[in-house]
Amino acid sequence: MRTLFEGVTYLFQYTEEWALRCVIDSLWGENGMNIILIGAQGSGKGTQAGLLAQELELFHLASGDLFRQEMAEETELGVKAQAFMDRGELVPDEITISMVLNRIKRLPVAQGVLLDGFPRTIPQAKALDSGLQTIAQQIDLAVYLDVPREELLDRLSGRYICQAHQHVYNINSKPSRVPGICDIDGSELTQRSDDTGEAIQKRLDIFFAETIRLLDYYDRQHKLAQINGNQGIYQVQDTLLETIEQHQDAVVWQLAGSFSSLLPKTF
Ligand code: AP5
Ligand code: MG
Repeated sequence: MRTLFEGVTYLFQYTEEWALRCVIDSLWGENGMNIILIGAQGSGKGTQAGLLAQELELFHLASGDLFRQEMAEETELGVKAQAFMDRGELVPDEITISMVLNRIKRLPVAQGVLLDGFPRTIPQAKALDSGLQTIAQQIDLAVYLDVPREELLDRLSGRYICQAHQHVYNINSKPSRVPGICDIDGSELTQRSDDTGEAIQKRLDIFFAETIRLLDYYDRQHKLAQINGNQGIYQVQDTLLETIEQHQDAVVWQLAGSFSSLLPKTF
């Protein structure tokens, strides 16, 4: 039979977990985490962000998509960015940071954001941290999609995107139902101007020399998770969802730990 002490402890633990989940819900809203997808070109950031944003009701913000939109509208920013993008180079930080932060600041307060392709440099990551701080927000988790270089090259050479909304297809792993036509909006599918031999190699070199440093940056903040991105699209999605759930649980239990240590020793 349980003693009164055991009963009270059990009740306390149960209530404690429930209370902490309420705190976390109020911090993140229903699912309002801020998550970064880090991965080389072709690792599946855009593909997974599209699926996850729907599943978790997050806003999918892709810096590359923002640039391509500006280019299509022939804005001053788009014209400046095009030359860098066509060469497979990073657009300079001063242009990229203000474009992305301005977009984030216009999002509804309760909605979490899923960042795809930003940040890519340490100055971008630092600017993101301080920009979020000014609106009482922070990055909750950064996930690295790990894919070997040969697989990345294969994926990029088979990729097509739609003209209207940049939905992503692949002639091998994700063909459209009607060749050359987007399943979702019926617009024409084309190859990206930077998905050509030389630009692809340059983008991958920049990723493995520079962007990869972000892993250390987020690891130091205890916010990094790494997953195997070299699986089928839906297996990667399942792994990502599990990882996000595990991270939320870890935060709950970490808070529970600090919460208990504040209580009188009898508990
Ligand atoms: P951006 O548009 O972000 O391109 P990227 O980084 O080169 O990444 P990708 O879009 O090529 O790859 P992805 O990981 O999204 O893969 P996807 O899901 O499409 O940036 C373009 C340019 O903009 C940059 O080069 C730079 O100039 C500039 N820029 C952007 N952000 C910047 C920043 N922060 N700072 C400075 N400059 C910036 O998948 C690829 C293919 O594989 C698809 O065909 C897909 O169908 C297929 N696929 C996906 N997952 C799988 C899977 N699991 N198995 C098999 N096939 C798969
Ligand atoms: Mg992409």
